[in-house]
Amino acid sequence: MRRFAFVLSLALVPVMSGSLQAADADQGKIIAERWCNSCHVVSDTQRKGSDATPSFATIADRAGFDADKLAFFLLDPHPIMPNFALSRAEAANLSAYIATFKRR
Ligand code: HEC
Repeated sequence: MRRFAFVLSLALVPVMSGSLQAADADQGKIIAERWCNSCHVVSDTQRKGSDATPSFATIADRAGFDADKLAFFLLDPHPIMPNFALSRAEAANLSAYIATFKRR
């Protein structure tokens, strides 16, 4: 019985660490540079995106910016945006990346 409990606890480690894993801004940057930079300015080095879109820095600097809310928003793409069907992890990583631009 003890042995069973030990094996069970080992089996649960990946499940638990997966759900506790913090959002990864570096991964978010990779997604942003692949999927978002045709329209949004997604980094300090990018010169130009579409004039119709706010840069990630602008989004992050708004009063009331909330990374969790943004991740939720990204799961359900804006109609004008192409349908990316981001996973929860990707949306969380992207919003963590966008949050790195917050200045206040
Ligand atoms: C085809 C162009 C296009 C692409 C690609 C695109 N967006 Fe957008 N996005 C827009 C436009 C246009 C708006 C403004 C919509 C509006 O204000 O009505 C917008 C709005 C947003 C907003 C809301 C901004 C606000 O004013 O609150 C966020 C956040 C956002 N985009 C994030 C992303 C992310 C993250 C990606 C990459 C996964 C992405 N977008 C890719 C065109 C795009």
